Amino acid sequence: MGSVPSRTVSAQAAAGLTALYPGSFDPPTNGHLDLIERGARLFGRLIVAVLRNTEKAPLFTTGERVEMLREATRSIPHVEVAEFEGLLVDFARQCGASAVLRGIRAISDYEYEMQMALMNRRLDPQVETVFLMPAEAYSYVSSRLIKEVYRLGGSIQGLVPPLVEARLRAKWRP
Ligand code: PNS
Repeated sequence: MGSVPSRTVSAQAAAGLTALYPGSFDPPTNGHLDLIERGARLFGRLIVAVLRNTEKAPLFTTGERVEMLREATRSIPHVEVAEFEGLLVDFARQCGASAVLRGIRAISDYEYEMQMALMNRRLDPQVETVFLMPAEAYSYVSSRLIKEVYRLGGSIQGLVPPLVEARLRAKWRP
């Protein structure tokens, strides 16, 4: 152990952990997938946790969002997709997850993410939130903007997986 560089030790430690990557994913974007790939390289098991929204009115049903994510992550090792409702920390406990993975794109994300991370820490100090940055090519991409641009006839090519584009086309077919 003494001769092993500490960076390798911590990488091994993370590889033994289960992490949750929660979100609405309405719809999943290439920014989400970029983060899933990064998270899957760090953690031994990464569960993409799709919120079964009760308050927001999502465009896609929970089932559709889960299906799209399963299809889009099929080739990424040790990634699972599940849906949840209620408190994230309760779902983390159920899954044996000790980390929550979130992406920070820009400083504008920081306040919301800090509030969630600190609230989750208060609710369960055993669950640690880990932030990763997506590739800069996706730093302005959000599910909300994807829906808006697509609905108004703009191109979203390269910003979402083709299967998501096809689903959007089917939803908004005139
Ligand atoms: O993609 P989003 O909409 O930014 O994801 C938000 C999400 C799903 C991570 C957040 O709303 C959440 O964790 N909801 C579950 C309810 C909960 O635990 N709330 C208290 C923690 S802030």
